[in-house]
Amino acid sequence: GSADHFPAVVIGSGYGGAVAALRLGEAGIRTLVLEMGRLWDAPGPDGRVHCSMTAPDQRSMWFKSRTEAPLSTFLWLDVINKDITPYPGVLDRVRYPGMSVYVGRGVGGGSLVNGGIAVTPPRSYFEQMLPQVAADPMYDTYFPLANRMLGATTVPSAWFEATEWYTYARVARAQAARAGLKTVFVPNVYDFDYMRREADGTATKSALAQEVIYGNNFGKRSLDKTYLAAALGTGQVTLQTLSRARALRRAPDGTYVLTVDRVDTTGAVVATDEITCGSLFLGAGSLGTTELLLRARETGALPELSAEVGRGWGGNGNVMLGRANHVWNPTGAHQSTIPVMAIDDWSNPTNPVFAEIAPLPAGLETWASLYLAITRNPERGTFTYDAAKDTTVLNWTRAQSAPSVAAAKALFDRVNSANVTIYRYDLFGDTRAFADDFCYHPLGGCVLGRATDAYGRVTGYDGLYVTDGSLIPGSIGVNPFVTITALAERTMARVLAEDPVGRR
Ligand code: FDA
Repeated sequence: GSADHFPAVVIGSGYGGAVAALRLGEAGIRTLVLEMGRLWDAPGPDGRVHCSMTAPDQRSMWFKSRTEAPLSTFLWLDVINKDITPYPGVLDRVRYPGMSVYVGRGVGGGSLVNGGIAVTPPRSYFEQMLPQVAADPMYDTYFPLANRMLGATTVPSAWFEATEWYTYARVARAQAARAGLKTVFVPNVYDFDYMRREADGTATKSALAQEVIYGNNFGKRSLDKTYLAAALGTGQVTLQTLSRARALRRAPDGTYVLTVDRVDTTGAVVATDEITCGSLFLGAGSLGTTELLLRARETGALPELSAEVGRGWGGNGNVMLGRANHVWNPTGAHQSTIPVMAIDDWSNPTNPVFAEIAPLPAGLETWASLYLAITRNPERGTFTYDAAKDTTVLNWTRAQSAPSVAAAKALFDRVNSANVTIYRYDLFGDTRAFADDFCYHPLGGCVLGRATDAYGRVTGYDGLYVTDGSLIPGSIGVNPFVTITALAERTMARVLAEDPVGRR
């Protein structure tokens, strides 16, 4: 391999990595961003960059021979998943014994595959989860900055009320109201002017063409169009794709040394490089950052790392569920993939739930209402390092998901009883009503103020920083990327003002 030196390296190009890259570039610091996934900019043979959910091909998933969609069956039929050629596709499902974690792979990380929901958490819960972070600068400065940079807006309400594409959300709103529950509009980074033109037939459909978890070809302001485009625009930031940082150590002169595997589109390692840097920013996400640090601690490469590395993981209390509606309550064959409304019962003292009203964009009437519930689950998982396999394992039991299911059930039992409806039992591969075995919101593993200082500086090692979702202690009460982005902005402002970043 070759030896290359950069003043700063960022690992991962999701929210934490993208914020770090932009602010380093603006400070005039030459920065390398390493991303294990590909850059999603070139159209495939069908003229499209991404495939849709209903016709998935190799672009859909990260080195799998069959897709592993969250909704795996319909009427118990295995009609959803398809065989595919293994390829560095955009969505990964990382399987641990009691929990599967969905993550985005590619330039933009989770922003490529997520629903774009951009929610600022209620201040009281933020203060409860992250007491070491002063709330005033967050709510006065960093949350507004994050929302502006990400391009969060709210669906125009007149259009929402009139369009067939949100029938499913209006039906779910009316049913929640019958149970005495409050619904709220949730901001999103999708361009609603574009969506309106999709509906009018004057723009190529994306959200209205069943595109989301395998990428949106149009309309979504993913990070490659916002933070990362601005980072590259500084002229200081270089992006290296299909490059996985595997190991991390420190040289006697204090620089960090990374071992980086470059892979081709078959997954074969074509080169292993050593890259050195003065300052290292970890933005590989809850799973990726925790794995890198845990491996470094357990192999003795960075022995001073805190015992807190690997602790404090949670899936934000995620539970997915469906309800069966009456025949006189169709949810629509036409459903926008972009959620814009949620049931907000977070102020409930016993079972706080924030439930996003999710689409089931099957292209035909399903009479189903789908939800992703965020609950307050106090359970936490830990990661351990498996030396024989050189991987990390998330230790999370199915029993630890029980509080999430109980909270979601408490709320949706109310909705069902008020509407004389039942759950759907045919959607998650077996007969369960609540999907508690996967999550979209992995959080923690390297918790702020425990494995790091109150700004993400890793304990024991100067010049080493965490900027991603691994900082959040397992739960934040809403969809997490606005919080991850705002905390990363706060870290970068502090670190660039106080630390000798890029001077080595
Ligand atoms: P993120 O996971 O975004 O980025 C990490 C990056 O690092 C990835 O690109 C990865 O490939 C790369 N990487 C990892 N290890 C590496 C290594 N060793 N070397 C090099 N690169 C490496 N949230 C929300 O707020 N609203 C929403 O609507 C949704 N919806 C949603 C839907 C789906 C299907 C998913 C999977 C997730 C969501 N989320 C969401 C969650 C949201 O996407 C998630 O919280 C953030 O992307 C996490 O941001 P991070 O910066 O922590 O990591």
